[in-house]
Amino acid sequence: MSTEVPLVVGHPFLGSLKELREDVLAAYLRAQRTVGDVVRFQAGPPGMRTEVHGVFSADGVRQVLASQAVNFRKDNPTYTEIRESVGNGLLTSQDEDYVFQRRMVQPLFTRRRVNEYAGAVHTETIRTVAGWKSAPDGVVDVSADMAEFALRAVTRILFGADIDTAIDVVRRRFPVIGESVLRRGVSPVRLPRTWPTPANRRTLSAQRELYDVCDRIIAQRTAAGEQDERDDMVSLLVRVRDEDGSGLTADAVRDQILIFLLAGHETTATSLGFALHLLAGHPEVRARARAEVDTVLTGRPATADDMDALPYLTQVLKETMRLYPAVAIMGRRAVADADVAGFRIPAGADVYLTPWVTHRHPDYWKRPETFDPEHFAPDQEATRPRYAWFPFGGGPRACIGQHFSMLEACVALATILQRFDIDAYDPPGHTVPLDLGMALRPAGPLRVRVTARTAEAAA
Ligand code: HEM
Repeated sequence: MSTEVPLVVGHPFLGSLKELREDVLAAYLRAQRTVGDVVRFQAGPPGMRTEVHGVFSADGVRQVLASQAVNFRKDNPTYTEIRESVGNGLLTSQDEDYVFQRRMVQPLFTRRRVNEYAGAVHTETIRTVAGWKSAPDGVVDVSADMAEFALRAVTRILFGADIDTAIDVVRRRFPVIGESVLRRGVSPVRLPRTWPTPANRRTLSAQRELYDVCDRIIAQRTAAGEQDERDDMVSLLVRVRDEDGSGLTADAVRDQILIFLLAGHETTATSLGFALHLLAGHPEVRARARAEVDTVLTGRPATADDMDALPYLTQVLKETMRLYPAVAIMGRRAVADADVAGFRIPAGADVYLTPWVTHRHPDYWKRPETFDPEHFAPDQEATRPRYAWFPFGGGPRACIGQHFSMLEACVALATILQRFDIDAYDPPGHTVPLDLGMALRPAGPLRVRVTARTAEAAA
């Protein structure tokens, strides 16, 4: 017999509205500590009250994402908004659409193919840090720099030689779409998109410009036909065929490209920005990571083949993603009544999983609030349940870009550590304010001090 989910007691009239609005991550964390691993929040005045469920235990997460995935669908308002703004690509589609798309897109993300992108990532890293040698007082904002790096890296992988045609539009227009998804995804009243409100007009014009640039490049690749030997993702998506010879329409290619941009740049930027900031503030961790990089690479560029030989760097990245999971909350809607971790979740319930909370759960982590890459030492990892750490989601809808993102971050970090010493700029104990947008991001700059280690980086 499953138990009724306990309610997080809030204000008598507004419920938990204020807490959820002010700092949703803190509200969820507090709920786990004070109420338990499965909770219910109510928000808003009586008559307009909405209810959301939070599931925090590793076992509950496993059930929602994996073993009961069929019952927990992407039918919630956030996914509806993403679908309407950037199309029905792999992140947002469901059912037969999804199965067909995953089959078509999977070959682009095989380990062998993704490993080939390491060279482009290395080139983009060098380009990003080229300005560091002349930074005033050696202080740089790694949040802004890693955002630009990750944007260039994913745009290069997608558009290949046409990166310069696309990057400016993506840089200017994508944030407008993100802002609209967020605003509409959480708003109780959503005006039709066709109404000419200033916000709708802004979003539509951004959407049109993004669609135009994608459509132009897709049309060129389609015209080049089977002889086209380019291996960027647009070309591969245009050429991919199912066993019966069917492929993706031009619109479907565009949907995938936009979804990869959405899912694949702010997320990796968050991991990299925080990794550099944490390394700057933890000299012992930094020294160990740098020694590993120097020993393994002996000054040469990092490639995909080096990843297994850089286990400590990987631990640093995993620990960064534990404390700063770029996707800090993910949501589903229950189709039918379900039992999750012994609690009764009713049909129609909005269920939220929060890596932010599970990654700080005292049952799974020795020092939940401390940056300690030893949390990912093999012996500690072996004793932990699979879903205690899930920055890339899990089950049938797990992130398809996971390997690419880990490779990208490892190559970029190794390249930076080879070239620069990174030291803390902020005083000890400084906390970074956060902004929960489409991805979790620092709300302001992440400053570190850099000093060139090599003549090449200083030149
Ligand atoms: C640190 C980097 C990244 C993080 C933390 C991340 C996180 C996630 C998470 C949590 C999901 C599952 C969402 C859910 O279940 O509701 C997801 C799905 C997805 N991600 Fe990523 N992602 C990252 C990088 C990337 C990159 C680089 C790409 C592509 C270039 C990408 C493409 C996708 C796609 C297409 C899906 C949907 C997969 C499906 O439903 O089959 N992601 N990602």
